[in-house]
Parts: sequence; C-alpha cells; structure tokens
Amino acid sequence: MPHFPNVRMRRLRKSPQLRNLVRETNLNINKLILPIFIRHGSGIKKPVAGMPGHFQLSVDQLEEEVRAASALGIRQILLFGIPEQKDALGQDAYSDQGIIQQAIPVIKEAVPDMLIISDICFCEYTDHGHCGVLCGTDNDVHNDQTLELLKKQAVSHARAGVDIVAPSGNMDGMVQAIRQALDEAGFKHLPILSYSVKYASSLYDPFREAAEGAPGFGDRRRYQMDYGNVEEAIRECSLDVAEGADMLMVKPAHAYLDVICRVKQAYPALPLCAYHTSGEYAMIKAAAEKGWVNERKTAMEVTTAIQRAGADFIITYYAKELAQWLSVSD
Ligand code: PBG
Ligand code: ZN
Repeated sequence: MPHFPNVRMRRLRKSPQLRNLVRETNLNINKLILPIFIRHGSGIKKPVAGMPGHFQLSVDQLEEEVRAASALGIRQILLFGIPEQKDALGQDAYSDQGIIQQAIPVIKEAVPDMLIISDICFCEYTDHGHCGVLCGTDNDVHNDQTLELLKKQAVSHARAGVDIVAPSGNMDGMVQAIRQALDEAGFKHLPILSYSVKYASSLYDPFREAAEGAPGFGDRRRYQMDYGNVEEAIRECSLDVAEGADMLMVKPAHAYLDVICRVKQAYPALPLCAYHTSGEYAMIKAAAEKGWVNERKTAMEVTTAIQRAGADFIITYYAKELAQWLSVSD
C-alpha cells in the first residue's frame, strides 16, 4: 500500500479549483423540489411563522410565485392545499373544484414546463386532521376505506393535469390502489412518487401550521413509522416496489441519512427522493437568525450530505435560496 510521505491527501485540497474537480457530490438545481402551500381565498400571502420565507398563497398569487421560482431555475414544485371547507371525509381533496384542482391549471398556464407534484393525503382536508377516514370504534384511521378516497384524489389531480402524484398517508396498499385507479382512468403514464419510508416525527411541526393539518387528537404513530426502525424501512420499500411505485422517498432526511443510505443500497435502480422537512429547515433558520450558524454554509452542507447519503433528488424549503447560492460560485 502506498503511504506517507508518497501519499499526501492534502495535495488535492490545495485550491478551490482542485477541490471542485475532485468533489464527488455536487448539488444541482435540477434535483431540488420546492414545496408550495395553496390556500382558499384571494389576495392572500400569509407568512408561516415556523418557516421564514414560506407563505400560504391564494390561487391568484401563484402565477407570480411560480414565475419567480422558474426564473431562479426551479424545475419542479410540490403542492399542498388548504381548502375552505374541512369535513370528516376531506371531500375537497377529491372534488374537481378542489383547491389543488384549481391551482394546477393556473400554474401550467403561467409556467408550462414546471413539473407539478401533488401530495396525496387527507390530513389537510379532514376536520379531525388525520390522514384518512376514521372508523367508529377507536377513532383509528380506516385503512381500506381511506384507499378508496386516495384513489379518487389521485385521479382528480390527474384530470387537473398533475405530472406526478406523491401519496404521503402511509396507508397499506396505497401505491397499488392508486396505480390501479390511475390506469383504469387512462393515466397509465402518470408516475407515483411514494412516501415509502415516512417516520412519525417531531420534525413536521412547522409544516402542520403551514398546511393546517395537525391531528385534532392523538398522533400519527398508528400509521407512520417508528423512528427506532430501519429494517422495517427496507420492508416498506419492497412492498412499494412490488405495488408499482416509480420512485421511493425517505422522510425526514437530515436525521435519517443512514436510512437513505440503506434504501439506496437495497434499491439502487429506483430513483430515491429525500424530504428535508419543515422542522429540519426551521432548525437551521432559527440558529442562523441567532447568529449561531452561517445559514448558507449550513444549508449547503446539510443538503449535500443528504445527496451524498444516496438521495437522487431532494424536497427542500431551501430550494429557492439554494438556487441563488448555486448560481454564484464560492
Ligand atoms: C401530509 C404530509 C406531512 C408532511 C408532508 N406531507 C405532514 C405529516 O405527515 O404530518 C410533512 C412535511 C414537512 O414537515 O415539511 N401527510
Ligand atoms: Zn397526511
């Protein structure tokens, strides 16, 4: 084995040019997805307290927002809807006049080549804030009845013109149900990005304010994964792959780099997404506001680490800032 003094690892760290040349992981704007929160009403641009730089936008504000994102080089967005009416079934989610169904054509009109991904779940639409319909006895989410509604929601988004559907409710069999419904409705070519590995996490709290989807009682541990588990994550992925998922996801990301790495090793051929969640964003923002960390350097390091761990693309609330930072060299 060649070794010191012939080998000197510092030779390739000498200059920015050399470091860039040998860098193994390069963040790229094409690999970032920007989440957007759309609410009912008009003329609304309401800041989200725990997520500085993010807003609830009414449909009439979307044109400006997506044009600005597109100008920065953002190629894809992930939509969440906050409906006017919430009810026990979350009917706005699958109404052809629903909030997301109204938003999609507006975005397509403003920026035709923006790739639109929609979150397929019920927590923003139900009055109890859970990710599906409740069954009487113990107020648990009824898995199979929820599948029926997820099918309707996915097909309705497809009719509105969405490019990718992303089921996030952790119901068993959701990918299979949605695939079947899309195929039957004539959307055989619409891809499914499954939130395959989604943990019951404290790192979603700012999102729940943004999307107004906090559970009215209890928590989501009866359907989302236990954060102590990683073998189970591989099992979740194997089921999603068998059910026809086109892409997999791990969520959260920063605290789950080992999970990203394991999933990529187990399924190297499937595109893998990682969701850098609201809580993970908020922690950097808050520390930066206090002057305790350098925001730009920290956000670049964390998102690069997520990619290095094995994520092919990343959903991040930092997408716009990263776009700006990546466009000017260090
Ligand atoms: C809906 C959904 C959630 C997130 C994405 N889709 C919330 C939840 O599961 O409670 C969280 C995103 C984030 O924290 O940024 N099921
Ligand atoms: Zn949900």
